[in-house]
Amino acid sequence: MAHEGTDVEPTRRDFLYVATGAAGAVGVGAAVWPLVDQMNPSADVLALASIEVDVGDMEEGTQLTVKWRGKPVFIRKRTAEEIEAARETPLSALPDQNARNANDAADASAADENRTLDADGTWLVMMGVCTHLGCVPLGDGAGEFGGWFCPCHGSHYDTAGRIRKGPAPENLPVPTATFASDTVIKLG
Ligand code: FES
Repeated sequence: MAHEGTDVEPTRRDFLYVATGAAGAVGVGAAVWPLVDQMNPSADVLALASIEVDVGDMEEGTQLTVKWRGKPVFIRKRTAEEIEAARETPLSALPDQNARNANDAADASAADENRTLDADGTWLVMMGVCTHLGCVPLGDGAGEFGGWFCPCHGSHYDTAGRIRKGPAPENLPVPTATFASDTVIKLG
């Protein structure tokens, strides 16, 4: 099915999302072109500035990988067990104690509550790029901490995408993201 957590490449459905977002952005670019053509970013930059992802039919325990600004973004609908495991982990067990969340204060702690998109912790959105040397980690419970595992050099991330073991120095970063509606997540 389309929501394979271990997908490195976006699925056909993912491309559909990107294409939908791009069409909207290009439309805006075309409308303002006559006025500010000298200062406008190119159409492809506009197209990737933000995208909206429909997560309405995602099931618990599944992950969607979308391409945004040329990089993979993981959107995971976590299970109660994944949330519990992340929230019970003491900060002292975390090599990187910063939330690395673009939506939060720069000095926010890496507590699970500071990483998720919603207060209940169901939705985890983060860049699918290992903070060691940039490989795309494997998901769906991979690694020793039930989250993500980067096979390039053996970095283990937990169910909140926080580095727990291996050479990666930082947690997987959370990009700018909001709920555009109950079932749509906007990146950027
Ligand atoms: S790139 Fe992920 S562990 Fe090295």
